[in-house]
Amino acid sequence: MPRRAALLPWTFVGLLQLVLILLQLAGCLLSPCLEVIPSKAFRCMGLNISGVPPEVPNTTQELDLSFNNLKSLSSNYFSSVPELQLLDLSRCHIHTIEDNSFVDLHELSTLILTANSLQYLGSATFYGLTSLKKLVLVETGISSLTDLPIGHLHTLQELNLGHNSIASLKLPKYFSNLTSLRHLSFFSNKITYISKGDLDALREANRLNLTLVLSLNSIKYIQPGSFAKIHLGELVLRSSFENFHDMRTSLHGLAGLQVNRLIVGEFRDSLKLGEFQNGLLSGLCQVQMQEFVLTCFRNFENDTDTLFNCISNVSSIRLVNVQLEEVSEVPMSPQVKRLECKKCKFKEVPAVKLSLFKELRVLRITQSKHLNSFRQKFKNLTYLEVIDLSENRLSFTSCCSPQFPGSANLKHLNLSFNSDISLTGDFTNVKNLLYLDLQHTKLDNHGTYPVFLSLQKLIYLDISYTKTHVKSDHIFHGLNSLQVLKMAGNSFENNKLSNNFKNLSHLHILDISNCKLVEVDQSTFNALSELKELNISNNKLLTFDPVVYEPLQALTALDFSHNQLSVLLDSALEILPASLVYLDLSHNLFECSCSYLNFMKWITEKEDLLQNEHLMVCHTPAYMKNLSLSSFYLFSCRPNPGMVACSVVILLAALVFIFLIYKYYFQLYYFLVLLSGCKHSAERGTTYDAFVIHSSKDQEWVIKELVEPLEGGKPPFQLCLYYRDFLPGVPIVTNIIQEGFLSSRNVIAVISTDFLESKWCSFEFDIAQSWQLVEDKAGIIMIVLEEVNKTLLRQKLGLSRYLRRNTYLEWKDKEISKHIFWRQLTGVLLQGKKWNHEEEKLM
Ligand SMILES: *[C@@H]1O[C@H](CO)[C@@H](O)[C@H](O)[C@H]1NC(C)=O
Ligand SMILES: *[C@@H]1O[C@H](CO)[C@@H](O)[C@H](O)[C@H]1NC(C)=O
Ligand SMILES: *[C@@H]1O[C@H](CO)[C@@H](O)[C@H](O)[C@H]1NC(C)=O
Ligand SMILES: *[C@@H]1O[C@H](CO)[C@@H](O)[C@H](O)[C@H]1NC(C)=O
Ligand SMILES: *[C@@H]1O[C@H](CO)[C@@H](O)[C@H](O)[C@H]1NC(C)=O
Ligand SMILES: *[C@@H]1O[C@H](CO)[C@@H](O)[C@H](O)[C@H]1NC(C)=O
Ligand SMILES: *[C@@H]1O[C@H](CO)[C@@H](O)[C@H](O)[C@H]1NC(C)=O
Ligand SMILES: *[C@@H]1O[C@H](CO)[C@@H](O)[C@H](O)[C@H]1NC(C)=O
Ligand SMILES: *[C@@H]1O[C@H](CO)[C@@H](O)[C@H](O)[C@H]1NC(C)=O
Ligand SMILES: *[C@@H]1O[C@H](CO)[C@@H](O)[C@H](O)[C@H]1NC(C)=O
Ligand SMILES: *[C@@H]1O[C@H](CO)[C@@H](O)[C@H](O)[C@H]1NC(C)=O
Repeated sequence: MPRRAALLPWTFVGLLQLVLILLQLAGCLLSPCLEVIPSKAFRCMGLNISGVPPEVPNTTQELDLSFNNLKSLSSNYFSSVPELQLLDLSRCHIHTIEDNSFVDLHELSTLILTANSLQYLGSATFYGLTSLKKLVLVETGISSLTDLPIGHLHTLQELNLGHNSIASLKLPKYFSNLTSLRHLSFFSNKITYISKGDLDALREANRLNLTLVLSLNSIKYIQPGSFAKIHLGELVLRSSFENFHDMRTSLHGLAGLQVNRLIVGEFRDSLKLGEFQNGLLSGLCQVQMQEFVLTCFRNFENDTDTLFNCISNVSSIRLVNVQLEEVSEVPMSPQVKRLECKKCKFKEVPAVKLSLFKELRVLRITQSKHLNSFRQKFKNLTYLEVIDLSENRLSFTSCCSPQFPGSANLKHLNLSFNSDISLTGDFTNVKNLLYLDLQHTKLDNHGTYPVFLSLQKLIYLDISYTKTHVKSDHIFHGLNSLQVLKMAGNSFENNKLSNNFKNLSHLHILDISNCKLVEVDQSTFNALSELKELNISNNKLLTFDPVVYEPLQALTALDFSHNQLSVLLDSALEILPASLVYLDLSHNLFECSCSYLNFMKWITEKEDLLQNEHLMVCHTPAYMKNLSLSSFYLFSCRPNPGMVACSVVILLAALVFIFLIYKYYFQLYYFLVLLSGCKHSAERGTTYDAFVIHSSKDQEWVIKELVEPLEGGKPPFQLCLYYRDFLPGVPIVTNIIQEGFLSSRNVIAVISTDFLESKWCSFEFDIAQSWQLVEDKAGIIMIVLEEVNKTLLRQKLGLSRYLRRNTYLEWKDKEISKHIFWRQLTGVLLQGKKWNHEEEKLM
């Protein structure tokens, strides 16, 4: 019966679980969409579904239905998801979109219809899309703009018509309605001719900053005037022309255009023209532009002479990935203020030619892997502020004054990521430098003397990973304005920071990570009272000496990770400034010991301050390795209330237990003996006739009045006396039980006032009583000495109950009483006595 009762609930639970699992499985089958953001974004890609899945909730804002099989969209198709903001219908085999398909999507801002060959679009297809900003119609088979029903989309900002077969750029009238349009792409279409009037719709609208992309078309001709009086933000013409001739004549057709940025050139993987030839850009003289970008041209060779002819008044020129080996002729008084050449083919910094661009403010020549020499000098570039020659292969000596005569305005000099440069300490021509970046360029002859002495205005110096070995304390002398010093990945003499930062009292950021540092001198940071960020990570520091770091009272961020700290002592925690908001101590070699209780506790309290706290792990002891410090504290050091309560209870229980054992040791022992003794009870009582329990004060009486008469009388009785018969070296309790009770047939209790007061006696008597109960024998003979107060007797021993069952003898020191006493006593002792042969003979 009980088994069945238990079985029922278990079967029930099992069934329930099974049902739950089945439900989950079913749920998976029914809801194949991936919930990207709970109840907001769903991805139902490639599921061969043919509609909005019912489990997509009406709160969804982003829905990806791409790669399905929708085929045709009918009106109110998306009524179940009215809050949609983004809808991706890429490659859904849609051919037909009927009127009002999207009419419920008032919030929709992005609609992607890429890769559907649309054959029918109703004229009211896009009705209701009152918030639409981006419409992607890439690869939809559109061949003409005329019937595209988008004229009412006033909010539209981006229209992407790439990869279609549009042949004409004739923008229908409705384009003048699209007043928000910022980006219009005809990337990879079939536009061949652009005629006057095609772009009239753009001209009418008072439109600003439209980006028009015509890349990857096959433009043969642009009729002059097509772009006249048109303002564009950006015009992109990359790989738009079949050949040099088409390009040159077409660019003439841009006459009258005003554009912020004109991008002309090729794509690296789609080079049609191959090489740059004279006069290619001659049409651009008629174009007003702020920035000109030329991309991906090869084979400039000798034909660059006209490169700048028509663009020398453009304020910004970028040449990207053009294999320019030399700078061509520069027209008189060019206006170029920013010139950039990225991935060019210069072998030498063309300083002389570039010096002709008198107006230059910013010059960048970067990522040119052939550029290794810098022998020419820039001359009188009075306005030049920024020179960026980073990420080349430059290798030169005598940096950095001789290269820049007359460029007193130079403020940024970036020579980072080059091969090797030797600094002479001469910065006279560029003494107004504010930023100097030399990182990852090997610096020769550096570290022994104060090379930067004359850069009194410099506020930013990066010499990270320059193989600098700091030998002198004076290396940073003169940098009195310096605010940022980055010198990670270098080294210091003896791997020790000493007085290196003496005069850098304005320093805000100092990066000395990865410098193999082992030791920091006490006065190192004394001058850095304004320092806000210190990165001293990835070194080999063993300690965080409060004396060293105390001067840093403005510190907000300290990265001390990847060192060999074992602990932060209280004195260190105390000097951490209140302004600190970022402290990384991860990856140190922490010693996990509750003797560092304050530190461990502090860690758990400073979660906001400590970065990568989970990476602050124990290093020693070995068995704690990789345990995070906060878990160590929580589990090993912190007294957690539950555990405290638990341990207190256990402790109390243990105490009570010990107390009980102490108090009832004998009883317990006796109990154990009882348990074991039951087996031997048959052998009991063979040695002695009686075990005498008495107070030691009554010993004299016992010897004189009990032992002598009983043992010496006829018949002789054998008594067990503790002072005589107990085995030496055996615990007293064992003796009492083994020798006394187990070996005697009777117990004689000599009851006196002393007996009643003695704990031992009471104990022995207790044992005797319980023994009697267990064995059910009336074996206690009580001899009450006359002077004992009977009431006390009853109270103390609770004897009244036993007095009746047991033999109760009163001792009186009178001959007649003694006689009666003896008769009674021997009578009792004789009961059950087994005689041995000698005794029988004696009798
Ligand atoms: C996709 O679903 C259609 C019916 O809607 C079915 O004919 C077709 O076989 C399915 N394709 C796959 C790959 O499951
Ligand atoms: C979405 O559906 C819930 C019921 O499923 C309904 O209460 C709620 O009004 C709906 N919200 C919208 C915007 O339709
Ligand atoms: C342009 O917008 C107006 C006003 O919304 C509208 O009446 C007109 O039909 C739109 N033109 C086109 C071609 O859609
Ligand atoms: C023009 O648009 C470009 C992005 O297309 C943007 O970066 C630039 O700030 C815009 N300029 C103005 C004046 O709005
Ligand atoms: C370029 O000029 C050099 C001489 O300066 C000549 O040897 C070379 O053939 C020219 N290359 C072309 C493509 O004209
Ligand atoms: C550039 O501007 C100068 C005057 O600032 C003018 O003389 C020159 O013709 C202009 N060059 C071009 C190509 O527009
Ligand atoms: C540079 O300027 C100095 C004086 O400012 C002048 O003497 C020198 O001729 C100029 N050099 C060039 C190449 O213009
Ligand atoms: C210097 O150039 C490098 C590489 O282009 C760049 O990462 C770094 O930020 C530049 N330095 C400055 C100060 O602009
Ligand atoms: C260090 O700074 C003090 C005052 O800021 C200045 O007097 C002293 O000349 C500087 N020392 C060097 C070597 O620049
Ligand atoms: C400190 O420097 C190390 C490497 O040198 C870098 O990984 C870490 O991000 C820097 N710390 C901060 C806070 O920038
Ligand atoms: C501690 O973590 C490191 C890296 O995660 C691992 O290589 C190492 O074996 C771990 N040590 C222990 C004792 O778990």
